[in-house]
Amino acid sequence: MKNHIERLFPTQIYRAEIPGAAALNLELEDASMALSQRDAKGRRWCEKHGYAGYTSYASINDLARRSKPFARLEKIIHAHAGQFAKSLQWELRGGKPLCDSLWVNVLPQGGSHTSHIHTNAVLSGTYYVTAPQGASPIVFEDPRHGLMMAAPPRKTSVYESRSPKAGTLMLWESWLRHEVPMNRAKEDRISISFNCVIG
Ligand code: NI
Repeated sequence: MKNHIERLFPTQIYRAEIPGAAALNLELEDASMALSQRDAKGRRWCEKHGYAGYTSYASINDLARRSKPFARLEKIIHAHAGQFAKSLQWELRGGKPLCDSLWVNVLPQGGSHTSHIHTNAVLSGTYYVTAPQGASPIVFEDPRHGLMMAAPPRKTSVYESRSPKAGTLMLWESWLRHEVPMNRAKEDRISISFNCVIG
């Protein structure tokens, strides 16, 4: 019998380049920048928590109801989240992954977002509105990392870095740890992150 090696339990990351993103991104960029100026509660939260730039994460939970470009993005996310759920072989018994929160991140030069997971969700992801030259990638951590105890170091990294473009949508399962290293672009890196639950 010939020896062979199976690859079991791979970690799936979904990536799509959204067609016609340029027009949508202009609207999302305007809406995000307007929000970053108007949302005093969000700005206070960022200051208090040492978040460079602006996020609406802690201050606004109904963006898709407030503004048309966010509603359009939410529709796109739902379509792709449904595709991803199929690839993940989820038995949803008539349910589907739906956004229960969606927030803007305006990350200036020098800003970063340390390693985290997204609690109370099944799918999480980010849509990239701007990704200027030098913009931070997103870095995913091998979910087996905490189990590696006495394993020798690997020639491959336990971190995988992906550089999105403006118009890229990425989805992953919410338990997957990830981070955004320092933004080296002179311009803001604008993204919209979200969580989905089964609805
Ligand atoms: Ni995240």
